[in-house]
Amino acid sequence: MKLLIVNGPNLNLLGRRETSIYGSQSFEDYFELLRKRFPDVELHYFQSNIEGVIVDKLHEVGFSFDGILLNAGAYTHTSVAIHDAIAGITTPVVEVHISNVYGREEFRHKSLITSKCVGLLTGFGLEGYAMAIQYFTATKRSS
Ligand code: DQA
Repeated sequence: MKLLIVNGPNLNLLGRRETSIYGSQSFEDYFELLRKRFPDVELHYFQSNIEGVIVDKLHEVGFSFDGILLNAGAYTHTSVAIHDAIAGITTPVVEVHISNVYGREEFRHKSLITSKCVGLLTGFGLEGYAMAIQYFTATKRSS
């Protein structure tokens, strides 16, 4: 089972950025915990602040990996290119947000990518990534 976590813009600042919303743990630290928690999963992690680089990454893994966990950050609300990239690949994508985007500013209530994702996890903090991994492992087992 090969899964890739893709984090978009500003998520490299996790642990230092708006800690009342996003918490005080760095993603690198959390990623190590995830690896220990899911030893049977080949877990990869990629972060970029650049829209086209995220599109390239989705193309690169999107025909061979078993699943992608995508937190596109602010591009969630703006990116037709990421929407089209998800539509164009065969690997299923789960949309993840750390905060509950529906409890925040109105501009965060619209996602351009949800319609092309298998599902959406929002507001569960970093645990949302673990929940998405559980979804992929459960559906792989049952398929
Ligand atoms: C976010 C929510 C987005 O609205 C925001 O732009 C982010 C992070 C989240 O994980 O809660 O950068 O995707």
